[in-house]
Amino acid sequence: MTAFPIEKIRAEFPILKEKIRNKPLVYLDNAATCQKPQAVIDSISHLYSHEYANVHRGVHTLSVKATDRYEGAREKIKNFINAKSTKEIIFVKGTTEAINLIAQTFAKANITKGDEILITAMEHHSNIVPWQMFCAETGAVLKVAPINLQGELIYDQFEKLISDKTRLISVVHMSNALGTINPVKKIIAAAKAKNIPVLLDGAQAIPHMTVDVQALDCDFYAFSGHKLYAPSGIGVLYGKQALLEAMPPYQGGGDMIRKVTFEETEYNTLPYKFEAGTPSIADVVGLGAAVDYLTEIGMDNVAAYEAELLDYATKKAEQIEGLRIIGQTKEKGAILSFVLDKIHPHDIGTMLDSLGIAIRAGHHCAMPVMDFFEVPATARASFAMYNTKEEIDVLMSGIEQLIEVFG
Ligand code: ALA
Repeated sequence: MTAFPIEKIRAEFPILKEKIRNKPLVYLDNAATCQKPQAVIDSISHLYSHEYANVHRGVHTLSVKATDRYEGAREKIKNFINAKSTKEIIFVKGTTEAINLIAQTFAKANITKGDEILITAMEHHSNIVPWQMFCAETGAVLKVAPINLQGELIYDQFEKLISDKTRLISVVHMSNALGTINPVKKIIAAAKAKNIPVLLDGAQAIPHMTVDVQALDCDFYAFSGHKLYAPSGIGVLYGKQALLEAMPPYQGGGDMIRKVTFEETEYNTLPYKFEAGTPSIADVVGLGAAVDYLTEIGMDNVAAYEAELLDYATKKAEQIEGLRIIGQTKEKGAILSFVLDKIHPHDIGTMLDSLGIAIRAGHHCAMPVMDFFEVPATARASFAMYNTKEEIDVLMSGIEQLIEVFG
């Protein structure tokens, strides 16, 4: 394998040249959102400078160009996740909206009082709260499969929770708080055996590995652009065509209709049926550029490089006395969540910032995970393909310094 072109990649992310508090930026908050390569920034600037108009609506040249760019991005994303058709790629604001869309449409049409929805104890709030709201409205029941102290799903117990009443399984592909990669193929196979649809929250997984929705055979896959080197405010809901066809629309408005009278409305075909109103045109184009950029590098190469980074960081962290890693499974993506004896995670975050290091400290929108590990919060360093071992050294030496001063 040729060496990962880390220097070239770093040079393509302008923000990485910034100084924070007079120190070179060490950006390790990629699970919250990651930085954007010049190619993505340029794609947006080019659209607004030369090709911008509304999409699907105009006969004039600019509208045709903008529509081509917008639909071209859909095609790129279809290829990136290996969907069968662009009809299966629905643009939404992000993972949160994708899951809410399923709760408001698929779930409302198919799940009723006494039926069960199965999630895991490591979900992000965006894969908990929409189901709680749905259950409160309908009388459906939310079941939660437990995790162990390594931060792994206890698979036997998960399987036991699949019942004759289970109507949907909605599981995170990779946990944002722990880094755990769930055994989604096994989960999907168990669900298929009982004809239960599976929604995967792919917000964290998609920037770190190859995602092939046909190989996974998931029914729905949700992800956000902003964690995939693309703009914020754009994301994708993938759904199998037959399921999407059968679902009622999400929001009403322009573009999702074929014919409107005051008596009735005929809805548009896929994917437009789920895309009411003027979409986030430039962000979709930016997402297309991000996907081009990643395809060129190769997601398997990204995964291999980040696995090296995580391994390096984990080994270094394990040598620091008083540091406890939260989430210790072997099946892990590039996330290092940790706590230090005697220093609150928020103080860790603030003190590391004074050294130019950006990490996240908090509950990571996964309060039940914090409760399970009996911590108020964790400090989390999350890596992207532009990070280096040298940056990990800076992080570890920063942690050692603050233990020395405050620990
Ligand atoms: N869900 C994002 C995170 O993990 C914001 O930080």
